[in-house]
Amino acid sequence: MTRPAVWIARRLPDAVLARAASSFDVIVNEEDRPYSHAEIIAMSAKVDGIVACHSEHFSADVVAALDARVRIVANYSVGTDHCDIKAFSDRGITVTNTPDVLSDATAEIALLLMLGAARRAVEGDRMVRTGEWNFWSPSFMVGKQVTGQRIGIVGMGRVGKAMARNARGLCMDVHYHNRTRLPESDEYGATYHDSLDSLLQVSDFLSLHCPATPETRGIITAEKLALLPDGAVFVNVARGALVDEAALLEALDSGKIAAAGLDCFVNEPGGNPAFATYDNVFMLPHIGSSTLDTRNAMGFRALDNLDAFFAGKTPGDLVMPHR
Ligand code: DGY
Repeated sequence: MTRPAVWIARRLPDAVLARAASSFDVIVNEEDRPYSHAEIIAMSAKVDGIVACHSEHFSADVVAALDARVRIVANYSVGTDHCDIKAFSDRGITVTNTPDVLSDATAEIALLLMLGAARRAVEGDRMVRTGEWNFWSPSFMVGKQVTGQRIGIVGMGRVGKAMARNARGLCMDVHYHNRTRLPESDEYGATYHDSLDSLLQVSDFLSLHCPATPETRGIITAEKLALLPDGAVFVNVARGALVDEAALLEALDSGKIAAAGLDCFVNEPGGNPAFATYDNVFMLPHIGSSTLDTRNAMGFRALDNLDAFFAGKTPGDLVMPHR
């Protein structure tokens, strides 16, 4: 019996590649560079399935041009904003993602960014590292206390809930906004806000955890930032597309936002060089889920989805078009 052929679009951990090779005829992108649209389309004629990351962009044009051979794109990511899901659905191509397994790692990075931004990690690290640290006084490097403060979480899905747990570990007063209120047993004492505006007004710390969808793209505008308490700390481990970066820069200039922690940018890779001049912006290069345990778990989850699909079953993490 011939085995399905699968293209693994980026270099995944060895354990994931070994398992993939035990079930499928795999073509691995050993160069580990993002393929162009034309290369993705050419590759689709050689395989029955693709394991893709958020670095592979499946716009409607690309999806329309994929070869009829390819029947599933099993994403190695929870976010699917790099995929035109409706276009896939129109072509009858199955799309899956990898929820759950990366929530803790991503919430760890949100915690790191929040603490690093509030406690001036960028300045402090540079000062010690460059030998510029030649002074100490009680008025030196005074940051913003995190413990016991109020945090607003936008999007109380799996990652948002993991962040809420982290925040509770710091005795923070947790508030959240979600499309729908969670059952009380899942709220762990957090306060629900039925509008983003209401949440923003109480968010001394604000952390974004919602996916980028047509409804959420650009939700953080200058008007929304103006609703935050003065001197708020802003954290984004979700997607850069949620934020008007020019408005965020203005809010940093005015002091409305005291500090920011960013793992996601509108343009990736690369980020936004305008943030680099701000010592109160702690930045990381989209590494929320980047631990070996999590990278393995994401790979195994993507393979579970492929296994189910090629066995004629419904994959556990089917992604459907937004309604
Ligand atoms: C995700 O899973 O969506 C992360 O951002 C990594 O792609």
